[in-house]
Amino acid sequence: MSSFAIKIYGCQMNVYDGDKIRTSLIDRGWEEVLEDKADVVIYVGCSIRQKAEHKVWSEIGLYRGRWEEAGSPKVCLVGCMAQNVGEQMFRRFPWLRLIAGPRSLGLVPDGLVRVMEGEKVNLLDQDPRAFMDLDVTPVHRVNRWKAYVTIAHGCDNFCTYCIVPYVRGRFMSRKSGDILREVRELVDDGVREITLLGQNVDTYGADFDRPYRFSDLLSDVAQVKGVDLVRFMTSYPSDFTKDVVSVIGENPAICTGINLPIQSGSDRILRKMNRHYTLEEYDETVRAIREGLPEVGLTSDLIVGFPGETEEDFQDSLAALRKYRFDQVHTAAYSPREGTPAAKMDNQIDRAEKSRRLQEVNALQAEIAREINSALVGRTYRVLVDDRAQKGEGLLQGRTKTDKVVLFPGDPSLIGSFVSVEIKRANNWSLHGDILEVEN
Ligand code: SAH
Ligand code: SF4
Ligand code: F3S
Repeated sequence: MSSFAIKIYGCQMNVYDGDKIRTSLIDRGWEEVLEDKADVVIYVGCSIRQKAEHKVWSEIGLYRGRWEEAGSPKVCLVGCMAQNVGEQMFRRFPWLRLIAGPRSLGLVPDGLVRVMEGEKVNLLDQDPRAFMDLDVTPVHRVNRWKAYVTIAHGCDNFCTYCIVPYVRGRFMSRKSGDILREVRELVDDGVREITLLGQNVDTYGADFDRPYRFSDLLSDVAQVKGVDLVRFMTSYPSDFTKDVVSVIGENPAICTGINLPIQSGSDRILRKMNRHYTLEEYDETVRAIREGLPEVGLTSDLIVGFPGETEEDFQDSLAALRKYRFDQVHTAAYSPREGTPAAKMDNQIDRAEKSRRLQEVNALQAEIAREINSALVGRTYRVLVDDRAQKGEGLLQGRTKTDKVVLFPGDPSLIGSFVSVEIKRANNWSLHGDILEVEN
């Protein structure tokens, strides 16, 4: 029997893919062990920014000593990063024994058997439409009570800064029947919270012959018996449709947390980013959301230092944060990705300036989030206790329906139950409280 360890980086899509690989290996009789005991160490890597890639480059580099001494472990790289730089790394590191992109996940388990037989295996496929899915329900998950389910693969938006369309390939909706079957199997396995994943969930079903859209899927998933909470991400400002708001309003299981990435507060920059909306259209979407869902938790993504971003454009982004007062913003300094159009644009912003702008948006957003969260002190939220808190001895964690992290003291046996928590204090990224009541 062979043993493996798996290390997952990047977004929820990689977590989902990693959980599927783990599940299919365990199904085939492999044993999951600690990294220093494993025959095979599998990295699921992310390429969204230089920093994400760099971390995995250097970690994989560190196996040199063990490989030269013991010929073990065999290291594998899958996911977006494999598709982007796997071949380069393959040439560089003799201990890297398998590379596979997100579109050849289905070939990984057999590939790993070949790795154990001593082969070096390259499963990359350069055809962006090729797709070999791994047909398993991820029952051996990072989290027992909540699960991700990818509803559409790839992305056709080609924002000029973004690597995702190149590494994950063309947009393809999964059949609703397959998604619903998977959700049922996850619920049978004890899952209480489902998060539907797509780079642009609003275009779900656009490639079907029959009229079945994201709102239909959302409603069907919410109706699966035993599903307590349904979340979804990511929404795309100009594709978001109002029927989603109505479906959320009609189904108490669907959470009122929406991630609507704005990316920039300047129309000029949005055009250069190839985002297909203007700020006016963005504004209309936000208005429709807030009107239909007054309690919504609205989060966003923002890039600073995109090529050609002037001080004025940057000030427009700060103004957008002040205007929308998002609950949270995932901010990033623009990172050039080789092969994307923006990497070749003129007027790249230097590193020091990008980091100054990043600090400034982060400081502003922290202040806004702190104000929003402080106003929630005294409220009571019903949350699913989903894990121990990452930081903080003895603390448990959950999320409100509006997708805010809630931390509270409690016994770990409560993990997997719903509790009511009264909020006692707040900071910019979480709410702290005490349990008032435990549901059975
Ligand atoms: N599909 C989603 C986001 C996917 S990537 C969307 O359209 O918003 C997650 C976030 O990473 C993006 O929203 C963007 O803010 C950031 N990002 C992507 N490429 C980047 C790059 N080259 N440099 C900096 N941030 C980037
Ligand atoms: Fe990247 Fe744009 Fe697709 Fe999001 S919508 S994954 S930012 S190309
Ligand atoms: Fe990274 Fe791929 Fe997700 S590049 S952010 S893991 S889609």
